[in-house]
Amino acid sequence: MLTEHLTEAERQYYYMEQCHQWVKEQEEKLGRPLTASVITFGCQMNARDSEKLTGILEKIGYTMVDSEKADFVIYNTCTVRENANLRVYGRLGQMKQVKKKNPSMLIALCGCMMQEPEVVEKLKKSYRHVDLIFGTHNIFKFAELIYRRITENTMVIDIWKDTDQIVEDLPNDRKYPFKTGINIMFGCNNFCSYCIVPYVRGRERSRLPEDIIKEIENAVADGVVEIMLLGQNVNSYGKNLENPISFAELLRRICKIDGLLRVRFMTSHPKDLSDELIQVMSEEPKICSHLHLPLQSGSTRILTKMNRKYSKEDYLLLVDKLRKACPDISLTTDIIVGFPGETEEDFQETLDVVEKVGYDSAYTFIYSKRTGTPAAVMEDQVPEDVVKDRFNRLLDRVQTIAAKVCSRHENTVQDVLVEEVNSQDPSLVTGRMSNNTVVHFNGDESMIGKIVPVYLKSCKNFYYMGEAAADHK
Ligand code: SAH
Ligand code: SF4
Ligand code: F3S
Repeated sequence: MLTEHLTEAERQYYYMEQCHQWVKEQEEKLGRPLTASVITFGCQMNARDSEKLTGILEKIGYTMVDSEKADFVIYNTCTVRENANLRVYGRLGQMKQVKKKNPSMLIALCGCMMQEPEVVEKLKKSYRHVDLIFGTHNIFKFAELIYRRITENTMVIDIWKDTDQIVEDLPNDRKYPFKTGINIMFGCNNFCSYCIVPYVRGRERSRLPEDIIKEIENAVADGVVEIMLLGQNVNSYGKNLENPISFAELLRRICKIDGLLRVRFMTSHPKDLSDELIQVMSEEPKICSHLHLPLQSGSTRILTKMNRKYSKEDYLLLVDKLRKACPDISLTTDIIVGFPGETEEDFQETLDVVEKVGYDSAYTFIYSKRTGTPAAVMEDQVPEDVVKDRFNRLLDRVQTIAAKVCSRHENTVQDVLVEEVNSQDPSLVTGRMSNNTVVHFNGDESMIGKIVPVYLKSCKNFYYMGEAAADHK
């Protein structure tokens, strides 16, 4: 069959069918089903990409399992900090032995780490047991690349430097039937000086609003009630489309979808958070009462060196505006400690913002030097012991404040979307409030995917123990 006249999605379905034939043959030979496993590192973007990889593997005929002893194992990697890379090398080292026991096993690597040429060189040299390597820009070619691997029988490597292509309508398999991530844009143009993401995810490109709405409508028809709109900087969504549209306007349109109950989004860059967005957030009840607003540092001097394009005062002003418009909103954040040149005074500014804002939670990171980023060659890298000490002090403050802030809903009734039966106590179910706080309460499997009013009895630092409001007297 000639594949040139087909759309990209059609070409890929053709390869899925070819691979399916191969899987069937193998299964007959072995007398058992072929299994596959997707192992995900990194952020929500990668988690969503893994749902796409899973969808394709299922279409090809693999049975998905949760084990690195599967017949096909793919690692979807992250490279945002050095330790993310080290974990992948560690796992790959162990896989050498596993593959010895099952020589027909296939090992694949994809994701952000593969966009770094040094990584691929190292894999080619020292990890010959890897079968397939591809990057972030050509994930839609997964089936075609598997086909190449099984027909050519040698290590297949296909990395693209960048792309402007967005391939729609490929299969995907959601991890949860009732909630999912939806990509609204790919890549990043911000080049924060510490960050490798723009280099490994390429330039910013937005999906067409019609394509996004269609995908959400299909997901809702399929039982999804909560979506998380994904992009590295959702606030600049739509600016480069032929018919530009703002993120706020996209949200308005999405909130009109019948049957959709909750809308979340991440990540919001403070520099692009518009008044229009704040207004939509205050008006649309479906938009969750939570905003993740990465601070990175509270020192204007450091923020400038980070290329974040806002000051400490800008950030605090934004928080004020948000709280005025949405009084009950939960704020969470990301903070980096030990950026080059950070002094104790700079660090105190960060602590000051933490105190003033009162985050529901904060992800705190030790600065990690990423080769190729401007910050990697800045002078005054902060000594490790100083960074560790600051990190511990920050964590302590963040946790104490979060415990206090989180407990503000104690003794009230709140809507909880039930996600699963509690793994430790099967008489309980676990779900999330609109502001993303976890709640455990009495219930059963039949509640999964439903929004239930729950009386919040007691706050345990960062989660609640509750009681179904119907049972609470
Ligand atoms: N686009 C998002 C962040 C994506 S990366 C945003 O702009 O907020 C997620 C988080 O990882 C960042 O917010 C930052 O806090 C952290 N991070 C990124 N690069 C890092 C580095 N080199 N060292 C330590 N933390 C880093
Ligand atoms: Fe990285 Fe900054 Fe882009 Fe976020 S906005 S992905 S921190 S460069
Ligand atoms: Fe990591 Fe790539 Fe996300 S580097 S944080 S998986 S965009």
